[in-house]
Amino acid sequence: MRIWRNKKRLSSEIDMNRIPVHIAIIMDGNGRWAGLRGMPRAVGHRAGVEALREAVKTCDALGVKYLTVYAFSTENWKRPQSEIGILMSLLKEYVRKELDELHANDVQVRVLGNVEQLPQDVREAVLLACERTKENSGLIFNLAVNYGGRAEIIQAVKSIVKDVQTGKIDADTINEDTFENYLYTNGCPEPELLIRTSGEMRISNFLLWQAAYSELVVVNECWPDFNEKSLIEIVRIFQNRDRRFGGIKKEEE
Ligand code: IPE
Ligand code: IPE
Ligand code: MG
Repeated sequence: MRIWRNKKRLSSEIDMNRIPVHIAIIMDGNGRWAGLRGMPRAVGHRAGVEALREAVKTCDALGVKYLTVYAFSTENWKRPQSEIGILMSLLKEYVRKELDELHANDVQVRVLGNVEQLPQDVREAVLLACERTKENSGLIFNLAVNYGGRAEIIQAVKSIVKDVQTGKIDADTINEDTFENYLYTNGCPEPELLIRTSGEMRISNFLLWQAAYSELVVVNECWPDFNEKSLIEIVRIFQNRDRRFGGIKKEEE
């Protein structure tokens, strides 16, 4: 099994001591990438899988601790059945083919989203990857599949209501930390950096709670063109951002 290169300085332009702990990516533009080349959308989705492989490796090499990728949204069920079928089979194929390599590289796979609604074979493949890698201590790789930020919040509220009703928690003690424990991302820090490819300036129901203070970087390239260089350039942009969290800069105080 191929073991990825050791962590090393990938670029002189970025500060390896200030790499975001959690990067989230809206992998968008597969369809347009294919369309521009006169090819069917499926070809774009297949090329997108290759870009995902590279992104995982680059994050691992950079020492990113959490990578969350948006692979299929709760709204993507609106697409034609044929495209949904392609996306589902690519997801299954990706997870099955990559599992040994991810595991050998100490990656821990997790899934965010309602897996119950996935086709059985896809659900089984994804859950197997999570189960097999659950003790791994390297990169935590969150696959957002059948994920919606609103759905995530609603399921959290329902679980909280149940726990209040059964006396497990006291309604008066609920705060932001309690709420976070009920999200799919329970235990993950918020993403400092949220990337979207293909130029769309919207969040499309991704990590609505968690991205409250994420730095957003939108790049024009479509997802299949995204590579190591793209990610490093974005980390450089991130490192030049002034993150204030509602406060003011130290020197202005
Ligand atoms: C991203 O590419 C993949 C998914 C949403 C599953 P798209 O399929 O959205 O491609 P565009 O945005 O139509 O180009
Ligand atoms: C967001 O992309 C979902 C994923 C990348 C999985 P979409 O292509 O579905 O988003 P919209 O429709 O452009 O908002
Ligand atoms: Mg899209």
